[in-house]
Amino acid sequence: MKVFLVKKIKHLIQNFQNIMLPLCSGSGFASSLYFTIFSRDFYYEHKAVLQAQIAYSKSSGIHGDSSALLRRNIHRLEKGLIMRPRRNIFALEYLLETVEVYKSAGSRKGFSISELMWAKSILDEYFLVVDCNHPDIFYASQVYFKIKLPDVIGQTKKLPYIQVDKAKHNVSYNQFMDLCLARRSTRWFDQKNVEDEKIQQAASIALQAPSACNRQPYEFYMVQSQPLLSQLVTLPGGTAGFATNIPCLIAVVGDLSYYPHARDRHVIYIDGSLASMQFMLALETLGLASCPINWPELHTLDAKVAKLLGLPQYKRVVMFIAVGYPDKSGYIAYSEKKASADIVRKL
Ligand SMILES: Cc1cc2nc3c(=O)[nH]c(=O)nc-3n(C[C@H](O)[C@H](O)[C@H](O)COP(=O)(O)O)c2cc1C
Repeated sequence: MKVFLVKKIKHLIQNFQNIMLPLCSGSGFASSLYFTIFSRDFYYEHKAVLQAQIAYSKSSGIHGDSSALLRRNIHRLEKGLIMRPRRNIFALEYLLETVEVYKSAGSRKGFSISELMWAKSILDEYFLVVDCNHPDIFYASQVYFKIKLPDVIGQTKKLPYIQVDKAKHNVSYNQFMDLCLARRSTRWFDQKNVEDEKIQQAASIALQAPSACNRQPYEFYMVQSQPLLSQLVTLPGGTAGFATNIPCLIAVVGDLSYYPHARDRHVIYIDGSLASMQFMLALETLGLASCPINWPELHTLDAKVAKLLGLPQYKRVVMFIAVGYPDKSGYIAYSEKKASADIVRKL
């Protein structure tokens, strides 16, 4: 009887959706209405985006020892400096904002000296090469040159450099392919702790990944102590059957409060994933294996993980990564790959 009822309800829901989906998918407003009335799929995300905007404006774009706003604007200035031809007036829309955030970041105790030095090097160079007779530039330079940050004195300058001065590498295509072939999603691990230092080393390589406007809006939460590990590994369904075998879990968390606008709400997933890929390849070079674990966008799960990791709502889980020393007798799925010709579309 109960099974019959459940089947009947499912059937009714399916019929209802068959009617509603074509109707609602025709316009943005109707789609939003559908998700407001009939689904809670976007509840958590919508709230997160709004809370992120509040957090951004409260923090004035500064996050602990780093500033998304400073990083973004200094990045924009760098692009102006390397432009061909370089203009002698640029960046007027955000120049004063940059100088002001540099000043307030510099006055924060514990703010990253290396980030401040990068900002100072670029701002110094900017005021050196632009037309300081322009009233906006003149005003900003007056504000800028009054800022005294003793901690950055004596630090090495961080300026754009020419292509031939770029870091060299000796990695051939074949060597890189070998590394990529060796990284395989691994689900069976030795029951052995992973050294913090190795995670730090892999994270240093993760940080070399490209990031929109160089904001780097992610953190890697490393968990291998109990009971937190057991509580976390069983949350995403994708660990079923091997959850208890995972010795170390990384939660890749993106911080939506790095952005003042909803339009950038997906950048945490892009940046977080690019960094994660490099992280996993780096782990392989350190003798460690990994498996990315899908994080389903379910408001019930989001609430649970936020509680366990102590996250504000605007910090979102991008994915989990299981990490450990591989159990040599454990099997690895074959996972046939597509051919390059299947994905490269020459237009
Ligand atoms: C975003 C993402 C989520 C994944 N989620 C899971 C998961 O929940 N459980 C799992 O066992 N594997 C998961 N994987 C691993 C994939 O199954 C695996 O990458 C794919 O089958 C290809 O195999 P390979 O990584 O060995 O090349 C995930 C991979 C990615 C990129």
